[in-house]
Amino acid sequence: MVSMETLVSLCKRRGFVFQSSEIYGGIGSSWDYGPLGVELRNKIKRVWWRDFVQRRPDMLGLDASILMHPTVWKASGHVDNFTDPMVDCRECRHRFRVDQLAETPWVHYCPATKGNKFTIPAGEACSHCGAARTLCPDCGKGELTPPRQFNLMFKTLMGPVEEDAAVTYLRPETAQGIFVNFDNVLQSMRRKLPFGIGQIGKAFRNEITPGNFIFRTREFEQMEIEYFVNPHETVEGRPADEYWHDRWIEDCLAWFRRYGIQSDNLRLHEHARDELAHYAKRTADVQYRFPIGWSELMGIANRTDFDLKQHAKFSGKALTYFDEERKEHVVPYVIEPSAGVDRALLAFLADAYREEEVRGEKRVVLRFHPELAPVSVAVLPLLKKRDDIVRTAHAIRDELSRDLTVVYDDTAAIGRLYRRQDEVGTPYCVTVDVQTVGDSDKGEPADGKVTIRDRDSMEQIRVEAARLAQVIGDLLRGTAWAEVAAGAGRS
Ligand code: GAP
Repeated sequence: MVSMETLVSLCKRRGFVFQSSEIYGGIGSSWDYGPLGVELRNKIKRVWWRDFVQRRPDMLGLDASILMHPTVWKASGHVDNFTDPMVDCRECRHRFRVDQLAETPWVHYCPATKGNKFTIPAGEACSHCGAARTLCPDCGKGELTPPRQFNLMFKTLMGPVEEDAAVTYLRPETAQGIFVNFDNVLQSMRRKLPFGIGQIGKAFRNEITPGNFIFRTREFEQMEIEYFVNPHETVEGRPADEYWHDRWIEDCLAWFRRYGIQSDNLRLHEHARDELAHYAKRTADVQYRFPIGWSELMGIANRTDFDLKQHAKFSGKALTYFDEERKEHVVPYVIEPSAGVDRALLAFLADAYREEEVRGEKRVVLRFHPELAPVSVAVLPLLKKRDDIVRTAHAIRDELSRDLTVVYDDTAAIGRLYRRQDEVGTPYCVTVDVQTVGDSDKGEPADGKVTIRDRDSMEQIRVEAARLAQVIGDLLRGTAWAEVAAGAGRS
């Protein structure tokens, strides 16, 4: 598995992710997505939306605002319950989440070795004096304060005059925007249960210990679905909510596998009773084997009727569905698949990373699924001094870029250009050479063909430039390289 340092360095060097406000020394836990990062991110969101919202007859979309009525967060339980217990060091003032102390390596000045300083692995005792950690793990000297509950929501003031302004919050999850619009969507779109509402948007949490690159940040983006089911119905002999919970778990795992995540790097983690959020009947996390170890990639919770009932209680508006068959109003149960865009991006990046040896040289390649690759096609002229080659290459770039992310590059020799594209995961390079345009000095006619090079096999085929858009389209839609190669001549 690739290390986090290698990924962070690649991301910066090749324009995927930069430290936010870097020229001012950076700001903790905020990251900016560069030219390739934003393409990767947009493609992840686009395929998620297409597969889970657009293509499913039982799904609809929504884009709710980040700032909501403050009572939303009282009703949802976030004001009272969205807290982590934390402690502060009285010496160095560092702050820790209580539940993470046991997972943190600790600094120890050992009395049995004349006060020598050691860094002891998390959860272990000192092998010299046998002491367990009691002081601050970072400085090894300060006492820790008693635990206090710390609310993770970012407070903000709404309104131009600070004294009169209403305190509200930046949303810590997109989900509540869906719940408070349940009746609007139901009435405007006339849906029958079960149906779901999907949303992609930013969320904010004042995490006590953000870190591990883009894994845990204070500003992040979520792709969430609230799937409403009739709790009085059964499907295949099981309560509808339990049936749909399992279906969504399977669909989410299949989605990550479909876009290239290796099965061995995915697993399910069922929440134990004491781990469950205040609203959940059951939650299963999809975990990924990140460079930091197995950690949550997304959660799939059965939120029951908790949220709709709470919002009905606090708003005084009925949030029910009329079951025509049973002639009764019901409060739907909710299955919630909730994924982080940033964590998905980190997982796709880590999973795609390979170091290979090619003819005695190291090749770094990101084996992204073709639909996710930030750049779909790189167009490379073999000779940048030949006007006709350069003109043809630009024309190809212009044509392909109507539907695809395409780059043109003539700043190095072809071998170097291929390696550059491998390192950012471009699935196909198209080369325009002398044969394509012909050589009148030598009396060689143009054959009108270009070379397509496959990133993974490094094989090359020649196809007519006129058919290029069609061939590239087929490849990106999933036609196997071998099949396309069989229909063209290998070069
Ligand atoms: N509405 C349910 C909900 O928000 P969650 O498990 O707290 O559940 C869902 O968050 C997903 O959002 C996580 O699985 C993770 O992918 C992402 N996420 C949560 N907190 C995050 C953070 N601080 N930084 C990056 N991603 C985060």
